[in-house]
Amino acid sequence: MQVAFNRRPFCFCKKSMVMILTLDNRLLAVASFVPLGARVADIGTDHAYLAIYLYGERGAKKVIATDKNEGPLAAARHTIKEAGLSEKIDARLGDGLIPIEAGEVDIVCISGMGGELIAAILERSPDVCVGLSRLVLQPMSDASYLRRWLYDSGYHIVDESLAEADGRIYEIAVAEHGIEPMPENALLELGPVLCKKRPQFFSRHADEILARKKRILFEMEKSERARESHKYKKIQKEIGEIMSCLNAKL
Ligand SMILES: C[S@@+](CC[C@H](N)C(=O)[O-])C[C@H]1O[C@@H](n2cnc3c(N)ncnc32)[C@H](O)[C@@H]1O
Repeated sequence: MQVAFNRRPFCFCKKSMVMILTLDNRLLAVASFVPLGARVADIGTDHAYLAIYLYGERGAKKVIATDKNEGPLAAARHTIKEAGLSEKIDARLGDGLIPIEAGEVDIVCISGMGGELIAAILERSPDVCVGLSRLVLQPMSDASYLRRWLYDSGYHIVDESLAEADGRIYEIAVAEHGIEPMPENALLELGPVLCKKRPQFFSRHADEILARKKRILFEMEKSERARESHKYKKIQKEIGEIMSCLNAKL
C-alpha cells in the first residue's frame, strides 16, 4: 500500500498498493506550524489525514488522533489501517483533550471546529494544556472570540496564516504560553499577526469581516429603534476601528 498526498507526495508501502490522500491548503497550513519530529495530537481528527501527514511529512515522533464521535473515529482508524500506520498513530475516542494524558504530547492541533468550541476544549483540560509548547488552531468561526480567550487564558499568538480551500479563506492561529497585553478589538478581529504580516488573501479576509458587519448594519437600518440601539453604534465603531487598523502604516 502507498499513501501519497497531492501537494508533497510521500508513500507508505504495504502490499505494493497505492493509496492517494489529499491534504487541502487549509490542513497543509495547519501542518506547516507543527515543528518537525514533534509529539502531536490531532483533536477532532475525522478522516485522520492531518495525523497521517504529520507522521509521514513532518516526521512526528508520536501522533495521537482523537475524535468525540464513533463514526469519524472509525473512519480515522480505517484510513490509518489502510496506510499501514496502526502501530504508529494512536486513534482514541473522547471529548477534546480528555483522551490525552498530561505530558504525552507537546503540540495540539484543533482544526475544523468553531472558535468557541476550541476554547471550551482547551479550558476543560488545564492539566494537559500546561505541558504543551504550542497550540495550532484553525477555527471555522468566531476567531476573534478564540483570540480573546487565548490572551485571557495566559496564551499569546506567535504566528498566523490564511489558507484558501474550496473558494473559502481559513484562519490559522498559533499560540504559546506567555502573558502578553490583550490586542485591541480590531486586531482580535483581523488577527494581530495577520494584520502585521498582511499575507496573501489578507485583503479578502479583511473585506469579508467588514462585509459581515456592514450586512448587519444594513439590516438594522430598516428599523429606527435598531438604528438607535447600542448594538448599531458598537458595530459602526468596530468598522471604524478595523478601517483605521487597515489604513495604519506598517
Ligand atoms: C469538521 S470535522 C474537522 C475534521 C478535521 N479536524 C479537519 O479539520 O478537517 C470536526 C470533527 O471534530 C469532531 N469533534 C467535534 N467536537 C469534538 C470534541 N469536543 N472533541 C473531539 N472531537 C470533536 C467531530 O466528530 C468531527 O469529526
